[in-house]
Amino acid sequence: MEKWARALYTPCLPLGDNRSLITGCEKHIQLSRQAAAEGTVLLKNNNGLLPFAKGTKVAVFGCGQIDYIKGGGGSGDVHTAYVRNIYEGLKLKKGYINVFDELSLFYQGYVEEAYKNGASMGMFEEPPVSEELVQKAKDFTDTAIIVIRRYSRENFDRKNDGTDDYFYLSEMEQKMVEAVKANFEHIVVLLNVGAMIDTAWLAYEDGIEAAFSIWQGGMEGGLATADILTGEVNPSGKMVDTCVKSFDDYPSSEGFHESADYVKYTEDIYVGYRYFETIPGKKDCVVYPFGYGLSYTTFHLSEMQACSIGNKIILSVTVTNTGDVSGKEVVQVYYSAPSAKLDKPARELCGFAKTKELAPSESQVLTITYDVNDMASFDEHGVIAKSAFILEKGEYKIYVGADVRSAKAIEYTYVVDEDRVTEQLHSYCAPENLDKRLKADGAYDTIECKPAVRTEFPCEYKCAEKPEKMYRLIDVAEGKIDLDTFMAQLTDDELIYLVGGHPNVGVANTSGFGCLGLYGIPPIMTADGPAGVRINRPTGVLTTAFPVATAIACTWNLELMEEIGKAGALEVKENNLHIWLTPALNIHRSPLCGRNFEYFSEDPFVSGKMAAAKVNGIQSQNIAATPKHFACNNKETNRKNSDSVVSERALREIYLKGFEICVKESKPKTIMTSYNIINGVRASENTELLEGILRGEWGFDGMVTTDWHTRAEHCKEVLAGNDLKMSRGDEPNLKEAMENGRLTREELCVCVKRILEMILWLE
Ligand code: BGC
Repeated sequence: MEKWARALYTPCLPLGDNRSLITGCEKHIQLSRQAAAEGTVLLKNNNGLLPFAKGTKVAVFGCGQIDYIKGGGGSGDVHTAYVRNIYEGLKLKKGYINVFDELSLFYQGYVEEAYKNGASMGMFEEPPVSEELVQKAKDFTDTAIIVIRRYSRENFDRKNDGTDDYFYLSEMEQKMVEAVKANFEHIVVLLNVGAMIDTAWLAYEDGIEAAFSIWQGGMEGGLATADILTGEVNPSGKMVDTCVKSFDDYPSSEGFHESADYVKYTEDIYVGYRYFETIPGKKDCVVYPFGYGLSYTTFHLSEMQACSIGNKIILSVTVTNTGDVSGKEVVQVYYSAPSAKLDKPARELCGFAKTKELAPSESQVLTITYDVNDMASFDEHGVIAKSAFILEKGEYKIYVGADVRSAKAIEYTYVVDEDRVTEQLHSYCAPENLDKRLKADGAYDTIECKPAVRTEFPCEYKCAEKPEKMYRLIDVAEGKIDLDTFMAQLTDDELIYLVGGHPNVGVANTSGFGCLGLYGIPPIMTADGPAGVRINRPTGVLTTAFPVATAIACTWNLELMEEIGKAGALEVKENNLHIWLTPALNIHRSPLCGRNFEYFSEDPFVSGKMAAAKVNGIQSQNIAATPKHFACNNKETNRKNSDSVVSERALREIYLKGFEICVKESKPKTIMTSYNIINGVRASENTELLEGILRGEWGFDGMVTTDWHTRAEHCKEVLAGNDLKMSRGDEPNLKEAMENGRLTREELCVCVKRILEMILWLE
């Protein structure tokens, strides 16, 4: 195909077999179903209740069986041909599972009526169920399924205040659960949620024999759940967040809704399991630890061995299926670092691998390799060496197992003889307003707040000579002229035009950029993710909705993530779009963040690995991936003006770490800055973040785009190295800045060059 043919001509060229459409095709839908089943986490299975025996009769309670939440809302929503709910999924297993229809049809009527009366998506209460109907259900079966659903979306956070019961069950949900407990002998709970919610009510209740987190599983989520209940798929999902007894147990809970203007990350590096496994007394708060998940079979880990070769630790472990049915297991590797001088979490994840489907008695040897330097900590204050990653002297213990709590120390220990600087970095993005931070002993350090000195990055770009004749961008692609010379022929106004977004072409609905016909610069269009390609409904294009990011992370299956990335990229390409605005990898700091479903985990290692796998899948198709939102967008309330106040160490080890892994392992072509402020400076105006850390220290060589319609000033964004302002540029602001000398042509050229380099990479 001619270069940029899809951008220029928007042809109708399907990418499937025999010229069939690949967008929303059966193969992608089956991939979505597979991922939904594989991300399902079995939390509890007492008395071997599950999988259901053939012929089991069930009565299903809860609106979520009909009003199944396939994913969250806002830009992360996906328009599909259909969404298979749980009732439909179970009905497709008729003969194996028989559903008490009258009860499900009661819920169906209630849900339809609620929407007819204007209810908001997934946000209306459970109805009371008449005693008569409960009695009929009881006459039909002794086995009940309860579905609890939760919905959330961008630009809004959930609460826990009686009007919005996100974490705990609402009063009506509690009544439903009580009624079911009083009438049914066997109970299975399904949590159709996008983030952690209360699990204590089901974990410690003997009357509830089994429970799953089925997450928000995309368009085939209901059928995937049925696949698991019948045992056609053996659950192998593992939690990527810690489930605790009380909302107040999360260290972020105290200050989450304290102010719309700021969030103080006072728990510092002790996020998620790092908090619960380290801080004295907090282990008892945990209901289900990070990494936890059951199977219908059992596994035994043996022959755990490790050695170091050069700077790598190589670990091998044999996994044997010791049960009666086939299944997959995830092996997780954690380390604990010595902490004589720098505070350290008790456990940190540094590697994982998943087996293939192992038949009963079958074994597989898994090899997990990681870099010794991955165990280093950031020395923000110069206890050993300021602004450096340090391997502190002492013993690094390694733990291997199937979750953070049960992972056992192996015999091998990595020893560091002297404190070692693994990377000398810089003091960037320092807080000015963080007055306390948590330490490993559970006490808080008080910190003196002082104004930070921000580093400047002078522009070193030199404009080339204007060529004698006119060239088009294709001439650069064909090597007839270099990019600097090409840019020399553009006027200042044309450069300004190129650093801003432009209206949609074709089926795009999130705008594009480029599009300077005179010079043959094609219009390049974007599309949202992460759970699929978001194309607006009026176009008639229906795409595949995959499970939300949290669900996919729970698969711990990087190949699967890569495959989904590739499948989504093909849907992007078939629709003549070029940039997929995914993956999103902010950290699950609080269960209430409205966008948790779009993000992977509380842990930066899982997040970074998943993001890298997705980017690799996407970019294998010459579609540019856009990891977002860089960085610290862990709350939605007032997201365009809220200051995330965070220590340099927590930034480096938690909030930036996933992005760092992703950038280094998959070289994304673009990255999206977040709306929020980080330690007093807006992310998109943050030179230290973009020029200092992202480009200078990590070697990112792609294009940086803003999030859509930031409150930041365009001139400051250009100066900070945020190349593109979406969805529109602020041309008057840039012209004025050039006139009064705040912005030079050279500075503008730096951003335009990165945008054009990205376009040149596209097909
Ligand atoms: C979201 C981004 C999204 C963009 C374009 C913003 O509101 O924060 O994640 O990619 O819109 O739709």
